[in-house]
Amino acid sequence: MASTNITVVGLQWGDEGKGKIVDALARTCRYVVRFCGGANAGHTVAIGDETFAMHLIPCGILSEGVLNVIGNGVAFDPAVAAGEIDMLQSRGIAIGRENLRISRCAHLVMPWHKLQDTLSEKSLSKGKKIGTTARGIGPCYSDKANRSTAIRAEELLDLDAFAQKVRDVADVKSKIFSALYGADPIDADAIIEEYNAYGKLLAPMIDNTGELLRKAVYADEPILFEGGQGSMLDIDHGTYPFVTSSPVTACGVANGAGVPPWAVGQIVGIIKAYTSRVGEGPFPTEQENEIGETLRERGHEYGTTTGRPRRCGWFDAFAVRYAVELSGVHELTVALLDVLTGMDEVKFCVGYRVDGKEMECFDPAVMAQVEPIYKTLPGWTEDITGCKTFDELPAAAKDYIAALEETLGRPVGFISVGAERTQTIVHHTQIEGLK
Ligand code: GDP
Ligand code: IMO
Ligand code: MG
Repeated sequence: MASTNITVVGLQWGDEGKGKIVDALARTCRYVVRFCGGANAGHTVAIGDETFAMHLIPCGILSEGVLNVIGNGVAFDPAVAAGEIDMLQSRGIAIGRENLRISRCAHLVMPWHKLQDTLSEKSLSKGKKIGTTARGIGPCYSDKANRSTAIRAEELLDLDAFAQKVRDVADVKSKIFSALYGADPIDADAIIEEYNAYGKLLAPMIDNTGELLRKAVYADEPILFEGGQGSMLDIDHGTYPFVTSSPVTACGVANGAGVPPWAVGQIVGIIKAYTSRVGEGPFPTEQENEIGETLRERGHEYGTTTGRPRRCGWFDAFAVRYAVELSGVHELTVALLDVLTGMDEVKFCVGYRVDGKEMECFDPAVMAQVEPIYKTLPGWTEDITGCKTFDELPAAAKDYIAALEETLGRPVGFISVGAERTQTIVHHTQIEGLK
């Protein structure tokens, strides 16, 4: 069976510009769905002079007539959701059952998850730290797998039973944290009071979203699946252990949303024209020099979620080709192309050498020991932020896009030349409505 849906996934280490393209495509869809991660994500949308940084609520919330869904695969932090709802309402976007649903099966991020994330990172020695966002993501998914210490969104619908569950789990966590880190006991009453308020706010939106989305799938209502993180951060296929704790490629959509695998539809892989990474872990094309600093300053490469400076380097086509094949990407979006303006030359990595020998296949497990093999193209100096068509781009920028298409074996559907909604060039896309 075929589907008219769209899946947007990041092909690097996150922050590829997913928020911007999801916002652009949302207007063609009835549903926008998060299926992985949680408030570790930070998706930025710039509309005119206004900027929205979304962590948990799908970016479709900024488009009228879209029903946004937080799927079962999400680690759902009700504190962040409440803050985001507040922020959106204060900016004139009303939030309710008409435009937001939360899967009853999504797992709740609890205060002890965030505490554990921080305590665990602190206790690890240099070289072992993951550099997490401290949003409690890993501990929440650990409890999901553990089952007996997990709490799901639907449990907020019965606040008496919820209070008892919080007391029971807080007791277990207090014992563990005291033994491992010498931490103080958890104040269960304070958590119950705080979460009771979230329960009252969110109850009307907690729903059987799997059923809702499957109905939409079989009725051919268009759905956009909004990826979080990037393929190299995938729990199974990324640079383990320096990854996040959920499946983040297009392979994770079906499970994280509760839809059949063929419902992923047209798979759009987002790349930024260079590479950035926040947190620890291997990064073969990293430029710990003036080039990296220039990319960081021009691209404002500071984390949307944590404010940490992002590590920057050249585009890694060898790694991205792996991500393209893994997700079965149909077309690419190249974002932040304008950030490369002014570089004397533009490099991109086409392979790795290990012990002087060129690797035949990409393997994330050996990334720490590799030496990148680069191709070099001429740079350009013209300001491209006002370009509306591919033809208006300077020849060197066009050549770079063509080289990426050739190396990655997929067409470039859209090119983003600035953060604002309208700074998008439609190129070789197959997505109806936006051609
Ligand atoms: P996401 O996590 O993939 O949604 O990406 P982030 O929002 O974390 O980071 C991307 C950053 O680049 C944000 O600050 C965006 O506003 C900005 N951005 C997106 N596309 C472009 C672009 O084409 N050019 C420039 N200069 N900035 C962009
Ligand atoms: P978006 O959706 C960039 C990184 C963290 C850390 C690792 C594990 O905005 O692209 P975690 O808190 O998930 O346990 O941290 O994953 N990370 C991201 N990096 N963008 C993201 O999301 C990220 N989500 C997690 O920096 O290296
Ligand atoms: Mg981000």
